[in-house]
Amino acid sequence: MRTQVGIVGAGPAGLLLALMLERRGIASVIIEARERAAIEATIRAGILEQSTVDLMVELGVADRLRREGVVHHGTILRFGGRNHRIDFADLTGGRVATLYPQHEVLKDLIAARLAQGGHILFGAKVTEIADLASDEPQLHFTDAAGLAQTLRCDIIVGADGSHGAGRAAIPADQRKDFLRIYPFGWFGILCEAPPSSAELIYARHARGFALISNRTPEVQRMYFQCDPDDIVEHWSEDRIWAELQARLAGEDGFRLKEGRIFQKTIVPMRSFVCEPMQHGRLFLAGDAAHVVPPTGAKGLNLAASDVWHLDRALGAFFAGGDMAALEAYTATALRRVWRAQHFSWWMTSMLHRFEGASEFDERRQLAELEHVTTSRAAATALAETYVGLPYA
Ligand code: PHB
Repeated sequence: MRTQVGIVGAGPAGLLLALMLERRGIASVIIEARERAAIEATIRAGILEQSTVDLMVELGVADRLRREGVVHHGTILRFGGRNHRIDFADLTGGRVATLYPQHEVLKDLIAARLAQGGHILFGAKVTEIADLASDEPQLHFTDAAGLAQTLRCDIIVGADGSHGAGRAAIPADQRKDFLRIYPFGWFGILCEAPPSSAELIYARHARGFALISNRTPEVQRMYFQCDPDDIVEHWSEDRIWAELQARLAGEDGFRLKEGRIFQKTIVPMRSFVCEPMQHGRLFLAGDAAHVVPPTGAKGLNLAASDVWHLDRALGAFFAGGDMAALEAYTATALRRVWRAQHFSWWMTSMLHRFEGASEFDERRQLAELEHVTTSRAAATALAETYVGLPYA
């Protein structure tokens, strides 16, 4: 088998890239270890930046997003027992965030890719990424039927997440990994209840952080900071609601609307960047190259911005062998990656409870939140990064 761009991973990065390359008439094949149904059922985060929405519109894959995505003109920071609103649209000249869960994005991208007659090999596991220094690197993989196969390519893109073969194909002595592990995780639930708030609530409380998000009018998504080694079975429905209610309680008498909890998961929190994001003819995109804690809702959006840059560079390469943009890919992508790393770390540090924090630290945290919600300049800095900075 031969193609121009061999893409490992049918996540947001791999699928968006395949659709962008198709527009340029560049052929690609996506190899994905999981089955389609599993990908489409995995619950991940749900906020799309304005830039990500714009990209999906441009690619003609935003019909359902436009119908079912919920536009958020602002968000709530809750601390000191009160809500403080950040008005995205007002602060950024009309830019907004859109709530549309990642697995819905994936359903739309997979359907669009298959409708174009594009190849996605589901259930196919990459066994080796070879000959990256040559003009014809190869992806060796085992297909869904268990047969050993080889895909010869001009370029390989590793968009296979943080535990995939892509990053592992860059020799450890030729890359540097930057890692920060947070001493807490997020306990995430899905519940059958009406929304408690029209906009997301990021809550700072002495007991720890909580986030109130939505899925549909009938299903809500909520999280609370927890011990990353905790076990979901230790948390009964009653205990979960008591904890969430305590963290959202305040002088305004706010109460969450409760309902049956039908999913519980613990999400670890880490910040990670691999530099460089390329090696020979291999280019990394999305979680294969970097991971952010979910507090800034940046993960999927960063995957989209990586492949936006990669698509342009690949366009120049296939149009006339111009390697310059591909060679500059790491430097170009990393500027936005580190901006998002800082933002996600900052939001995390401002809103979470840190074990061993002093009273001074707590007062400082509150002063920062006070500043962000009362200074127009500070609020603008949060808003413009949350809704997404322009790609270029
Ligand atoms: C979600 O709805 O799952 C969600 C929203 C915002 C975040 C993280 C997760 O920052």
